[in-house]
Amino acid sequence: MFRAVSSAALFLLASGLAAHAGGDAALGKKVFNRCIACHEAETERDKVGPHLLGVVGRKAGSAESFAGHYSQAMKDAGAAGLVWDEANLTEYLKAPKQKVPGNRMAFTGLTSDEDIANVIAYLKADPKP
Ligand code: HEC
Repeated sequence: MFRAVSSAALFLLASGLAAHAGGDAALGKKVFNRCIACHEAETERDKVGPHLLGVVGRKAGSAESFAGHYSQAMKDAGAAGLVWDEANLTEYLKAPKQKVPGNRMAFTGLTSDEDIANVIAYLKADPKP
């Protein structure tokens, strides 16, 4: 009994945290319209930028299919240990040139924290909404 109660409490706590910290993937799909000219997130097809299928948790500059196209800056960042967890993605999407100086993504960044959280939720969602 105690066990059932505590796991229910944990579940509530975890889902409450997820709802608070995580964005809304369906809204994030709309934000992703600003990325779609250069990125595909639902297949492993590269465009001007590397595909972003499974990018959350991926090492920077490590999509094999895009290996010949990354900037040296992005490859160096990955080699130095940069992994696209939520915190690093948040910083990168806010200010790409500051997070990885010299990287080649021609995008000024997202200004809204909400858009950033939502687009990360979309990138994480599998299957995508
Ligand atoms: C004008 C084209 C363009 C747009 C728009 C763009 N990107 Fe990029 N993105 C790139 C390129 C090119 C790279 C590779 C940069 C490098 O190698 O220096 C990149 C790299 C990335 C990476 C690192 C991937 C890896 O494998 O290390 C992430 C994450 C990313 N972009 C997310 C986004 C998101 C999310 C958006 C929309 C909010 C976006 N980008 C908009 C072109 C773009």
